[in-house]
Amino acid sequence: MSRKPLALYQALLATQSGDDEAARVRGVRRILQGERSTWPDAVRTVLDGAGVGDGYLLRGLLSIATFATDVRDALERGLPFVVARRVNRIADPAVRAEVLAPLVALPAETGAALLPRGLSRRIEADAVAAISAERSASMRAHITAGPDGWLDADDPAASPRRLPGHVWLFSPNRGAPRGEEPLAPRVVEALVARLLPRGGALVDVTAGTGTIASVARRFGVRSWSGDIAPAAPFVRRADARTLMTSPPRGVSAGCADLLVVHPPTYAVWRRSRSSAHDDQLDLYRDDVGAMIAGSLGVVRPGRHVVVVSRPVRATGAVWLSTSHLAEALGDAGVRVVGYVVAVASGGSEDWHLLIGRTQGAGGGAPG
Ligand SMILES: C[S@@+](CC[C@H](N)C(=O)[O-])C[C@H]1O[C@@H](n2cnc3c(N)ncnc32)[C@H](O)[C@@H]1O
Repeated sequence: MSRKPLALYQALLATQSGDDEAARVRGVRRILQGERSTWPDAVRTVLDGAGVGDGYLLRGLLSIATFATDVRDALERGLPFVVARRVNRIADPAVRAEVLAPLVALPAETGAALLPRGLSRRIEADAVAAISAERSASMRAHITAGPDGWLDADDPAASPRRLPGHVWLFSPNRGAPRGEEPLAPRVVEALVARLLPRGGALVDVTAGTGTIASVARRFGVRSWSGDIAPAAPFVRRADARTLMTSPPRGVSAGCADLLVVHPPTYAVWRRSRSSAHDDQLDLYRDDVGAMIAGSLGVVRPGRHVVVVSRPVRATGAVWLSTSHLAEALGDAGVRVVGYVVAVASGGSEDWHLLIGRTQGAGGGAPG
Protein backbone atom coordinates (compact mmCIF):
# COMPACT_ATOMS: atom_id res chain seq x y z
CA MET A 1 0.00 0.00 0.00
CA SER A 2 1.29 3.44 -0.91
CA ARG A 3 1.87 5.76 2.01
CA LYS A 4 1.10 8.85 -0.06
CA PRO A 5 -1.65 10.61 1.89
CA LEU A 6 -4.06 11.02 -1.03
CA ALA A 7 -3.70 7.39 -2.12
CA LEU A 8 -4.17 6.21 1.47
CA TYR A 9 -7.23 8.39 1.88
CA GLN A 10 -8.73 7.08 -1.35
CA ALA A 11 -7.98 3.47 -0.36
CA LEU A 12 -9.74 3.98 2.95
CA LEU A 13 -12.77 5.53 1.29
CA ALA A 14 -12.88 2.64 -1.19
CA THR A 15 -13.72 0.36 1.75
CA GLN A 16 -17.11 2.14 1.97
CA SER A 17 -19.93 1.91 -0.53
CA GLY A 18 -21.87 4.77 -2.10
CA ASP A 19 -21.02 7.92 -4.09
CA ASP A 20 -21.26 10.49 -1.33
CA GLU A 21 -17.69 11.27 -0.20
CA ALA A 22 -18.78 12.89 3.07
CA ALA A 23 -20.88 9.84 3.99
CA ARG A 24 -17.95 7.52 3.24
CA VAL A 25 -15.64 9.66 5.39
CA ARG A 26 -18.18 9.45 8.24
CA GLY A 27 -18.26 5.67 7.78
CA VAL A 28 -14.46 5.38 8.01
CA ARG A 29 -14.36 7.73 11.00
CA ARG A 30 -16.96 5.64 12.85
CA ILE A 31 -14.98 2.48 12.18
CA LEU A 32 -11.68 4.00 13.37
CA GLN A 33 -13.33 5.27 16.53
CA GLY A 34 -14.23 1.67 17.46
CA GLU A 35 -11.93 -0.98 18.89
CA ARG A 36 -9.33 -2.25 16.43
CA SER A 37 -10.76 -5.77 16.84
CA THR A 38 -14.10 -4.56 15.41
CA TRP A 39 -12.62 -3.09 12.20
CA PRO A 40 -13.65 -4.78 8.95
CA ASP A 41 -10.87 -6.72 7.22
CA ALA A 42 -10.77 -4.25 4.31
CA VAL A 43 -9.94 -1.31 6.59
CA ARG A 44 -7.41 -3.35 8.54
CA THR A 45 -5.68 -4.43 5.32
CA VAL A 46 -5.32 -0.82 4.14
CA LEU A 47 -3.94 0.31 7.48
CA ASP A 48 -1.66 -2.63 8.14
CA GLY A 49 0.38 -1.72 5.09
CA ALA A 50 0.34 2.03 5.73
CA GLY A 51 2.30 2.21 8.95
CA VAL A 52 0.36 5.16 10.41
CA GLY A 53 -1.54 5.41 13.68
CA ASP A 54 -5.34 5.64 13.64
CA GLY A 55 -5.14 8.88 15.67
CA TYR A 56 -3.24 10.46 12.78
CA LEU A 57 -5.87 9.22 10.36
CA LEU A 58 -8.75 10.61 12.36
CA ARG A 59 -7.15 13.97 13.08
CA GLY A 60 -5.31 14.53 9.87
CA LEU A 61 -5.80 12.37 6.88
CA LEU A 62 -9.59 12.42 6.86
CA SER A 63 -9.46 16.22 6.62
CA ILE A 64 -8.59 15.67 2.94
CA ALA A 65 -12.37 15.50 2.58
CA THR A 66 -12.40 19.30 3.03
CA PHE A 67 -9.56 19.98 0.57
CA ALA A 68 -10.26 22.09 -2.50
CA THR A 69 -9.48 20.45 -5.84
CA ASP A 70 -6.31 22.49 -6.39
CA VAL A 71 -5.01 21.50 -2.95
CA ARG A 72 -5.68 17.82 -3.68
CA ASP A 73 -3.80 18.22 -6.96
CA ALA A 74 -0.90 19.81 -5.08
CA LEU A 75 -0.88 16.91 -2.62
CA GLU A 76 -0.83 14.51 -5.53
CA ARG A 77 2.15 16.40 -6.98
CA GLY A 78 4.09 15.93 -3.78
CA LEU A 79 3.30 18.93 -1.58
CA PRO A 80 3.76 17.68 2.01
CA PHE A 81 0.47 16.96 3.75
CA VAL A 82 0.97 19.51 6.56
CA VAL A 83 1.69 22.25 4.01
CA ALA A 84 -1.33 21.27 1.89
CA ARG A 85 -3.51 21.46 4.99
CA ARG A 86 -2.31 24.97 5.64
CA VAL A 87 -2.84 26.08 2.03
CA ASN A 88 -6.37 24.69 2.21
CA ARG A 89 -7.15 27.24 4.94
CA ILE A 90 -6.80 30.10 2.42
CA ALA A 91 -10.41 30.99 1.62
CA ASP A 92 -9.93 32.99 -1.59
CA PRO A 93 -9.37 30.57 -4.52
CA ALA A 94 -7.43 33.24 -6.48
CA VAL A 95 -5.00 33.78 -3.60
CA ARG A 96 -4.67 30.01 -3.13
CA ALA A 97 -3.84 29.65 -6.82
CA GLU A 98 -1.20 32.38 -6.48
CA VAL A 99 0.39 30.60 -3.50
CA LEU A 100 0.42 27.25 -5.35
CA ALA A 101 1.62 28.75 -8.65
CA PRO A 102 5.32 27.81 -8.23
CA LEU A 103 4.31 24.15 -7.79
CA VAL A 104 1.82 24.21 -10.66
CA ALA A 105 4.47 25.72 -12.93
CA LEU A 106 6.71 22.64 -12.55
CA PRO A 107 6.62 20.04 -15.34
CA ALA A 108 3.79 17.56 -14.62
CA GLU A 109 6.20 14.63 -14.32
CA THR A 110 8.16 16.25 -11.44
CA GLY A 111 7.78 13.81 -8.55
CA ALA A 112 7.63 14.62 -4.84
CA ALA A 113 11.27 13.63 -4.45
CA LEU A 114 12.26 16.14 -7.15
CA LEU A 115 10.51 19.24 -5.79
CA PRO A 116 13.01 22.11 -5.91
CA ARG A 117 14.78 22.75 -2.64
CA GLY A 118 12.92 25.17 -0.39
CA LEU A 119 9.72 25.13 -2.47
CA SER A 120 7.49 23.58 0.22
CA ARG A 121 8.87 25.96 2.82
CA ARG A 122 8.19 28.93 0.57
CA ILE A 123 4.61 27.78 -0.15
CA GLU A 124 4.01 27.26 3.55
CA ALA A 125 5.33 30.76 4.41
CA ASP A 126 3.16 32.31 1.68
CA ALA A 127 0.13 30.40 2.98
CA VAL A 128 0.71 31.65 6.53
CA ALA A 129 0.95 35.25 5.25
CA ALA A 130 -2.21 34.82 3.13
CA ILE A 131 -4.23 33.38 6.01
CA SER A 132 -3.16 36.23 8.25
CA ALA A 133 -4.10 38.82 5.57
CA GLU A 134 -7.54 37.22 5.20
CA ARG A 135 -8.00 37.28 8.96
CA SER A 136 -7.12 40.99 9.09
CA ALA A 137 -9.50 41.76 6.21
CA SER A 138 -12.36 40.03 7.99
CA MET A 139 -11.53 41.90 11.21
CA ARG A 140 -11.50 45.21 9.29
CA ALA A 141 -15.00 44.48 8.03
CA HIS A 142 -16.19 44.88 11.65
CA ILE A 143 -14.34 48.11 12.47
CA THR A 144 -16.57 51.18 12.47
CA ALA A 145 -15.62 54.84 12.79
CA GLY A 146 -17.48 57.54 14.72
CA PRO A 147 -20.06 59.78 12.98
CA ASP A 148 -17.27 62.20 12.03
CA GLY A 149 -15.30 59.41 10.33
CA TRP A 150 -12.55 59.25 12.99
CA LEU A 151 -11.43 55.86 14.18
CA ASP A 152 -10.36 55.68 17.81
CA ALA A 153 -7.07 54.14 18.86
CA ASP A 154 -7.05 50.83 20.68
CA ASP A 155 -6.86 51.09 24.43
CA PRO A 156 -4.41 49.94 25.68
CA ALA A 157 -2.14 50.57 22.73
CA ALA A 158 0.98 48.58 21.90
CA SER A 159 4.33 50.27 21.27
CA PRO A 160 5.24 50.32 17.58
CA ARG A 161 8.56 48.68 16.69
CA ARG A 162 10.98 50.74 14.60
CA LEU A 163 12.86 49.42 11.63
CA PRO A 164 16.41 50.74 11.37
CA GLY A 165 17.95 52.72 8.54
CA HIS A 166 16.50 53.52 5.15
CA VAL A 167 15.96 50.02 3.79
CA TRP A 168 13.25 48.10 5.62
CA LEU A 169 12.68 44.37 5.20
CA PHE A 170 9.21 42.88 5.71
CA SER A 171 7.29 39.65 5.02
CA PRO A 172 5.40 39.73 1.72
CA ASN A 173 1.72 40.53 1.44
CA ARG A 174 0.27 37.41 -0.19
CA GLY A 175 -3.41 37.78 0.66
CA ALA A 176 -3.99 41.09 -1.03
CA PRO A 177 -6.34 40.95 -4.00
CA ARG A 178 -4.62 42.22 -7.15
CA GLY A 179 -5.08 45.94 -7.74
CA GLU A 180 -5.46 46.90 -4.08
CA GLU A 181 -1.73 47.06 -3.38
CA PRO A 182 -1.92 47.49 0.39
CA LEU A 183 1.14 48.34 2.44
CA ALA A 184 2.43 45.50 4.61
CA PRO A 185 1.40 45.91 8.30
CA ARG A 186 5.04 45.78 9.42
CA VAL A 187 5.85 48.77 7.21
CA VAL A 188 2.89 50.73 8.61
CA GLU A 189 4.05 49.94 12.15
CA ALA A 190 7.56 51.22 11.39
CA LEU A 191 6.12 54.41 9.84
CA VAL A 192 4.04 55.02 12.97
CA ALA A 193 7.14 54.46 15.13
CA ARG A 194 9.14 56.93 13.11
CA LEU A 195 6.63 59.67 12.38
CA LEU A 196 3.78 59.78 14.88
CA PRO A 197 3.75 60.87 18.51
CA ARG A 198 1.80 58.65 20.91
CA GLY A 199 -1.86 59.61 20.61
CA GLY A 200 -1.13 61.25 17.24
CA ALA A 201 -3.64 61.69 14.43
CA LEU A 202 -3.34 60.25 10.93
CA VAL A 203 -5.29 61.09 7.79
CA ASP A 204 -5.07 58.57 4.96
CA VAL A 205 -6.68 59.98 1.81
CA THR A 206 -6.19 56.90 -0.42
CA ALA A 207 -7.16 54.34 2.21
CA GLY A 208 -8.65 51.63 -0.03
CA THR A 209 -9.22 48.66 2.27
CA GLY A 210 -8.06 50.69 5.29
CA THR A 211 -4.91 48.71 6.10
CA ILE A 212 -3.00 51.75 7.34
CA ALA A 213 -5.65 52.95 9.82
CA SER A 214 -6.43 49.46 11.09
CA VAL A 215 -2.76 48.80 11.84
CA ALA A 216 -2.03 52.30 13.21
CA ARG A 217 -4.88 52.14 15.75
CA ARG A 218 -3.13 49.23 17.50
CA PHE A 219 -0.32 51.67 18.28
CA GLY A 220 -2.41 54.43 19.80
CA VAL A 221 -3.05 56.40 16.60
CA ARG A 222 -6.45 58.01 15.83
CA SER A 223 -7.26 58.19 12.15
CA TRP A 224 -9.56 59.46 9.45
CA SER A 225 -9.59 57.47 6.20
CA GLY A 226 -11.00 58.46 2.82
CA ASP A 227 -10.89 57.05 -0.70
CA ILE A 228 -12.58 57.77 -3.99
CA ALA A 229 -13.67 54.09 -3.95
CA PRO A 230 -13.83 53.04 -0.27
CA ALA A 231 -13.34 49.32 0.45
CA ALA A 232 -13.93 49.16 4.23
CA PRO A 233 -16.87 50.37 6.35
CA PHE A 234 -14.80 53.00 8.17
CA VAL A 235 -13.36 54.54 4.97
CA ARG A 236 -15.33 57.62 3.82
CA ARG A 237 -15.95 58.36 0.15
CA ALA A 238 -13.83 61.43 -0.66
CA ASP A 239 -11.67 62.72 -3.49
CA ALA A 240 -8.19 63.63 -2.23
CA ARG A 241 -7.90 66.31 -4.92
CA THR A 242 -10.75 68.34 -3.41
CA LEU A 243 -10.52 67.28 0.24
CA MET A 244 -9.86 70.74 1.63
CA THR A 245 -12.03 72.69 -0.81
CA SER A 246 -15.14 70.83 0.36
CA PRO A 247 -14.01 69.04 3.55
CA PRO A 248 -16.12 66.09 4.63
CA ARG A 249 -17.33 65.88 8.22
CA GLY A 250 -14.39 65.33 10.59
CA VAL A 251 -11.76 66.86 8.29
CA SER A 252 -10.38 70.32 9.08
CA ALA A 253 -7.19 72.31 8.59
CA GLY A 254 -4.35 71.00 10.77
CA CYS A 255 -6.29 67.99 12.09
CA ALA A 256 -3.42 65.53 11.43
CA ASP A 257 0.16 64.85 12.45
CA LEU A 258 0.65 62.65 9.42
CA LEU A 259 -0.96 62.60 5.97
CA VAL A 260 -0.58 59.44 3.91
CA VAL A 261 -1.01 59.57 0.14
CA HIS A 262 -0.68 56.08 -1.27
CA PRO A 263 -2.00 56.47 -4.82
CA PRO A 264 -2.42 53.64 -7.29
CA THR A 265 1.01 52.69 -8.62
CA TYR A 266 1.84 54.07 -12.03
CA ALA A 267 1.13 50.66 -13.62
CA VAL A 268 -2.38 50.45 -12.10
CA TRP A 269 -3.09 54.13 -12.79
CA ARG A 270 -2.07 53.73 -16.44
CA ARG A 271 -4.31 50.68 -16.91
CA SER A 272 -7.28 52.72 -15.67
CA ARG A 273 -6.80 55.37 -18.38
CA SER A 274 -8.36 55.26 -21.80
CA SER A 275 -5.42 56.61 -23.77
CA ALA A 276 -2.60 54.10 -24.10
CA HIS A 277 0.49 56.29 -24.47
CA ASP A 278 3.55 54.59 -23.15
CA ASP A 279 5.00 57.42 -21.17
CA GLN A 280 2.42 59.35 -19.20
CA LEU A 281 4.55 59.94 -16.14
CA ASP A 282 4.03 63.68 -16.28
CA LEU A 283 0.26 63.16 -16.18
CA TYR A 284 0.68 60.70 -13.30
CA ARG A 285 2.77 63.24 -11.40
CA ASP A 286 0.13 65.92 -12.00
CA ASP A 287 -2.69 63.62 -10.84
CA VAL A 288 -0.90 62.54 -7.66
CA GLY A 289 0.33 66.12 -7.22
CA ALA A 290 -3.33 67.21 -7.20
CA MET A 291 -4.06 64.62 -4.46
CA ILE A 292 -1.16 65.94 -2.38
CA ALA A 293 -2.05 69.60 -2.90
CA GLY A 294 -5.77 68.95 -2.33
CA SER A 295 -5.29 67.25 1.02
CA LEU A 296 -2.09 68.82 2.41
CA GLY A 297 -4.05 71.33 4.49
CA VAL A 298 -4.92 68.60 7.03
CA VAL A 299 -1.30 68.49 8.24
CA ARG A 300 -0.21 70.64 11.18
CA PRO A 301 2.81 72.88 10.45
CA GLY A 302 6.11 71.06 10.76
CA ARG A 303 4.53 67.58 10.60
CA HIS A 304 4.79 64.90 7.97
CA VAL A 305 3.39 63.66 4.68
CA VAL A 306 4.24 60.22 3.35
CA VAL A 307 3.84 59.46 -0.35
CA VAL A 308 4.01 55.79 -1.22
CA SER A 309 5.02 54.60 -4.68
CA ARG A 310 6.75 51.86 -6.60
CA PRO A 311 8.87 52.21 -9.72
CA VAL A 312 7.51 50.28 -12.67
CA ARG A 313 9.55 47.71 -14.48
CA ALA A 314 7.80 46.49 -17.59
CA THR A 315 9.29 44.39 -20.34
CA GLY A 316 11.94 46.58 -21.85
CA ALA A 317 11.12 49.73 -19.85
CA VAL A 318 11.46 51.18 -16.37
CA TRP A 319 9.69 54.25 -15.01
CA LEU A 320 11.16 55.83 -11.89
CA SER A 321 7.84 57.28 -10.81
CA THR A 322 9.12 57.99 -7.28
CA SER A 323 11.32 60.84 -8.44
CA HIS A 324 8.34 62.42 -10.22
CA LEU A 325 6.35 62.25 -6.98
CA ALA A 326 9.25 63.87 -5.10
CA GLU A 327 8.86 66.75 -7.56
CA ALA A 328 5.12 66.84 -6.89
CA LEU A 329 5.84 67.18 -3.15
CA GLY A 330 8.24 70.02 -3.91
CA ASP A 331 5.61 71.72 -6.10
CA ALA A 332 3.22 71.61 -3.12
CA GLY A 333 5.82 73.38 -0.96
CA VAL A 334 6.80 70.29 1.01
CA ARG A 335 10.48 69.55 1.66
CA VAL A 336 11.43 65.89 1.21
CA VAL A 337 13.32 64.99 4.40
CA GLY A 338 13.40 61.20 4.18
CA TYR A 339 13.34 58.37 1.68
CA VAL A 340 12.86 54.75 2.74
CA VAL A 341 12.74 51.68 0.52
CA ALA A 342 10.70 48.84 2.06
CA VAL A 343 11.48 45.48 0.49
CA ALA A 344 9.69 42.15 0.95
CA SER A 345 12.04 39.38 1.95
CA GLY A 346 12.53 37.32 -1.20
CA GLY A 347 12.37 40.52 -3.24
CA SER A 348 8.78 40.15 -4.48
CA GLU A 349 7.65 43.69 -3.50
CA ASP A 350 9.30 47.03 -2.98
CA TRP A 351 7.70 50.22 -1.73
CA HIS A 352 9.32 53.62 -1.94
CA LEU A 353 8.29 55.96 0.86
CA LEU A 354 8.93 59.66 0.39
CA ILE A 355 8.74 61.51 3.70
CA GLY A 356 8.00 65.22 3.46
CA ARG A 357 7.75 67.82 6.19
CA THR A 358 5.33 70.71 5.97
CA GLN A 359 6.57 74.23 6.60
CA GLY A 360 6.35 75.77 10.04
CA ALA A 361 7.29 75.00 13.62
CA GLY A 362 7.28 71.68 15.47
CA GLY A 363 7.77 68.11 14.30
CA GLY A 364 10.80 65.97 15.00
CA ALA A 365 13.28 64.59 12.49
CA PRO A 366 12.06 61.48 10.66
CA GLY A 367 15.20 59.64 11.80
C1 LIG B 1 -2.59 51.64 -3.71
S1 LIG B 1 -4.25 51.79 -3.29
C2 LIG B 1 -4.19 52.19 -1.60
C3 LIG B 1 -4.10 50.95 -0.76
C4 LIG B 1 -4.36 51.22 0.68
N1 LIG B 1 -3.27 51.95 1.29
C5 LIG B 1 -4.60 49.91 1.40
O1 LIG B 1 -3.78 49.58 2.22
O2 LIG B 1 -5.59 49.22 1.07
C6 LIG B 1 -4.66 53.34 -4.03
C7 LIG B 1 -6.02 53.86 -3.69
O3 LIG B 1 -6.13 55.19 -4.17
C8 LIG B 1 -7.50 55.43 -4.44
N2 LIG B 1 -7.63 56.67 -5.22
C9 LIG B 1 -7.31 56.89 -6.52
N3 LIG B 1 -7.57 58.16 -6.84
C10 LIG B 1 -8.03 58.78 -5.74
C11 LIG B 1 -8.45 60.10 -5.44
N4 LIG B 1 -8.46 61.08 -6.37
N5 LIG B 1 -8.87 60.38 -4.17
C12 LIG B 1 -8.89 59.41 -3.22
N6 LIG B 1 -8.51 58.14 -3.47
C13 LIG B 1 -8.08 57.82 -4.70
C14 LIG B 1 -7.92 54.14 -5.13
O4 LIG B 1 -9.32 53.99 -5.08
C15 LIG B 1 -7.17 53.09 -4.30
O5 LIG B 1 -7.98 52.57 -3.28
